[in-house]
Amino acid sequence: MLNMKSIIVESEAITLDAILEKVYQGSGYDFRDYKRGTVTRRLERRLHAVGAETYLEYMKFLDAHPEEYDRLADELTIKVSGFFRSPYTFLQVSNLVLPELVSYKINRGQRNLRFWSTACACGEEPYSIAMLLADFLEHRPEGFNVSIYATDISRGALHEAQAGQYSPKKVEGLSPAILEGYFICQGEHYVVNSNLRQMVDFSYFDLASVKSPPFGSLDCIFCCNVLIYLQRQLQERVLDMLYDSLASPGYLVLGEVETPVDNVRGRLQCLDNKARIYKKSGRDDHV
Ligand SMILES: C[S@@+](CC[C@H](N)C(=O)[O-])C[C@H]1O[C@@H](n2cnc3c(N)ncnc32)[C@H](O)[C@@H]1O
Repeated sequence: MLNMKSIIVESEAITLDAILEKVYQGSGYDFRDYKRGTVTRRLERRLHAVGAETYLEYMKFLDAHPEEYDRLADELTIKVSGFFRSPYTFLQVSNLVLPELVSYKINRGQRNLRFWSTACACGEEPYSIAMLLADFLEHRPEGFNVSIYATDISRGALHEAQAGQYSPKKVEGLSPAILEGYFICQGEHYVVNSNLRQMVDFSYFDLASVKSPPFGSLDCIFCCNVLIYLQRQLQERVLDMLYDSLASPGYLVLGEVETPVDNVRGRLQCLDNKARIYKKSGRDDHV
C-alpha cells in the first residue's frame, strides 16, 4: 500500500532542495548541506513574514524581490554569541594551548602568532581570543606579533564586529578589570579599544564553499557553535579544510557544543575532551 505520508515528506524535501539550490544560484549563499530541521523551521518564518503559503509562492517572491535573499540568509544564520562564551574552553586554551605554543615559538626564535575565528558572529569570540592573548603575553619581553583572522558569512554581523561596540548587557559578565583594560565607555556603549582592535582582521569567508582555505600555517583555529548546523559530510569537508590550514604543531578548538566527526578523531590528538581541543602534531614540534 502507498505510504502517503512518506510521499508528501519526500516531495517537500525535493522542494526544499529546489529552494536551497535557487538561493545558491541566485545569491551565492550555500545552505544546501545544512541540517534540514533548522533550515525548514527558519524558512517557514520567512514564508510567513512575506505572506507566502507554499514553497513555490516563496520562490516567485524571491524572483520579484531579490533583496529577500539577504533576509533569508540572515534568518538562517544563528548569530548568538558572547564574550568568553564557554569559559571552560577559554580556560583550557589558556592552560593547554598558550604555554606550549608560546614556548615552541620562543625556542625557534619565532615571534608571530596566527589565530582564526571561523564563525566570528558579531566579534565576541575573536575579541575574547585577543583579550586572552593580550593577558597571557602582557609580561613577556619577547614582543609577539599577533594576528587574529575573524570570518563569517553574515555581512551584518561582520559590520557590527568591525564597529566593536557593545551594549551594557553584552558585556555584563566581564570583570571590571577587563572592561577597564580593553574597552572604552562611549555614552551607553562599550567600545573595544584600539590595541585589541588592531589584533583582529575581519573578512567574509563561507566555510561551506569549496574554495581553498583563505589562511595557512595557523597556530590555532576556533570553530565553535557552527558545525552543529551542518550535515555530516559538510562538517567533514570543513574539518579537512581546517586541518590543512593548521601549522604543525597547530591547535583546533571546537568548544563544548560541537560533536567531533571521525576524521578529526583519527588525525588529531585530543588535549581536552570536554572543550574539544585538538592538536595537529608535526615531526619537529617538540617544545
Ligand atoms: C551561533 S554563532 C557562533 C559564534 C561564535 N563562534 C560562538 O561560538 O559564540 C554561528 C555563526 O556561524 C556563522 N555561520 C553560519 N554558517 C557559516 C558558514 N558557512 N561560514 C561561516 N560562518 C557561518 C553565522 O553567521 C553565525 O555568526
